[in-house]
Amino acid sequence: MRCDQTPAWKALSAHAAQNTAFDLRTAFATDAHRADALSQTAPHVFADLSKNHVDAATEALLQELGRQTGLAAHRDAMFRGEHINSTEDRAVMHWLLRQPEGSLGGELAEPLAQVHGTLGPMLDYAETIRADAQITDVVNIGIGGSDLGPQMAVLALQDFVMPGKRFHFVSNVDGHELAGVLKGLKAQNTLFLIASKTFTTTETMTNARSAQAWFQAQGGTDVARHFAALTTNVAAAAEFGIRTTFGFWDWVGGRYSVWSAIGLPVAIAIGAQGFRDLLAGAHAMDQHFQTAPLEENLPVRLGLLDVWYRNFLNYTSRSIAPYHSALRRVPAYLQQLEMESNGKRVDRNGHALPYGTSPVLWGEPGTNGQHAYFQMLHQGTDVVPMEFVAVKKPTHSLKDHHELLLANVIAQAQALMLGQVDEGGHKHFTGNRPSTFLLLDELTPASLGALIALQEHRVFVSGSVWGINSFDQWGVELGKVLAKDIHARMTSGDVSGLDASSAALLQRVLA
Ligand code: F6P
Repeated sequence: MRCDQTPAWKALSAHAAQNTAFDLRTAFATDAHRADALSQTAPHVFADLSKNHVDAATEALLQELGRQTGLAAHRDAMFRGEHINSTEDRAVMHWLLRQPEGSLGGELAEPLAQVHGTLGPMLDYAETIRADAQITDVVNIGIGGSDLGPQMAVLALQDFVMPGKRFHFVSNVDGHELAGVLKGLKAQNTLFLIASKTFTTTETMTNARSAQAWFQAQGGTDVARHFAALTTNVAAAAEFGIRTTFGFWDWVGGRYSVWSAIGLPVAIAIGAQGFRDLLAGAHAMDQHFQTAPLEENLPVRLGLLDVWYRNFLNYTSRSIAPYHSALRRVPAYLQQLEMESNGKRVDRNGHALPYGTSPVLWGEPGTNGQHAYFQMLHQGTDVVPMEFVAVKKPTHSLKDHHELLLANVIAQAQALMLGQVDEGGHKHFTGNRPSTFLLLDELTPASLGALIALQEHRVFVSGSVWGINSFDQWGVELGKVLAKDIHARMTSGDVSGLDASSAALLQRVLA
């Protein structure tokens, strides 16, 4: 049943209307157990949800909404390999990439064997590159999911990255990016990884061709040694002239592909065992998502909270603040995950929806954000639910830093909630502003894997309740088609048939 037609939706609307005066400070004052009751652990992640605008009754109603929209059945269908990506008639099985070898029977036994049949050689190759002292620079050329995942993870796991190798990520068709990277490289020391699920993406193909031309111009001849392709389109990679290819499958969405061959830069950076640990952390979260009862299921609780905020409290954005500088690309990664998955205006059958879906997701690492846009979070006219991510143990031994960092993240959540109500005018903070606090003991391949899988599944949960297909991305196609048309006009100068604004802009850039 469509979510807005369920009894639970009606009950939640009534509950929201009755609780417009909900106040976090009162909630804590009247319930000594609130912090405990609204906190939980999940694999590698401790979550404190108590500073959110919910109480036990809200959560119970949200779980009822999950039940009435068939959330568990939808989740189980994904884990059975059913074609829940209906508009592309594909299974959604990124989770299978982190499933232990031989652990599934039936129809999933064969794809799982293929996963491990590819993972083994890919990790062997990663180890070969790690042992190859001549390769000092690895350049990943890819965009979207073929860039953000590996880039985010290599940065996040910088403490685990082997010395002696540098990692570069080139995504933009803007030649300034590739040119800037190439400037510091030597062909004989460079490995290019051409990462593209489809092997047709204009940006990636343009960068790959330029990289190849640069390699040849530098006197490079051994393409097999210096270029590898990570793709589902092995034939296109071969046509491009690349013989070293690691494949994956159409049931891995681009934004869910860091666990596949797309993760090769991560495997080179942190080694085969590190990559296996990343997969194992994610798998532990998969199991939690599959088996924990809804009320103790962290991805379910976060996803339902997202629905509550978006549809009942009408908050249109969510901000993420990782208090760890190595997690600085996590906001960009999550932006694609959330907004490309759930930025949909029609249901799975193509019918327009009368309610909101994906929030705007944005953020920067703390404490940087505090000195930039946190002003708006504390005193702006809009309420933005915050998600803080902190890591208990640092890996450096610099005095004072980590204590200051952790003090700040706790203080920010506190300030948002408490406000400063005894002051007036410019010094008045309303407080009562919601936040979620996620805490990792340490930042390791396993905990990063769990954190990212948690985010994947929470996006699944809200998308499932909204009744949308979180696994297609038709909204990116129109721009691609129009760019092709305009690109052709850049040579001809023909502006006929264009709208007046686009025609004038084209003429201006060509003048
Ligand atoms: O255009 C959007 C998109 O298809 C993303 O979903 C994807 O992650 C990205 O482009 C890159 O696609 P590919 O890996 O096929 O080059």
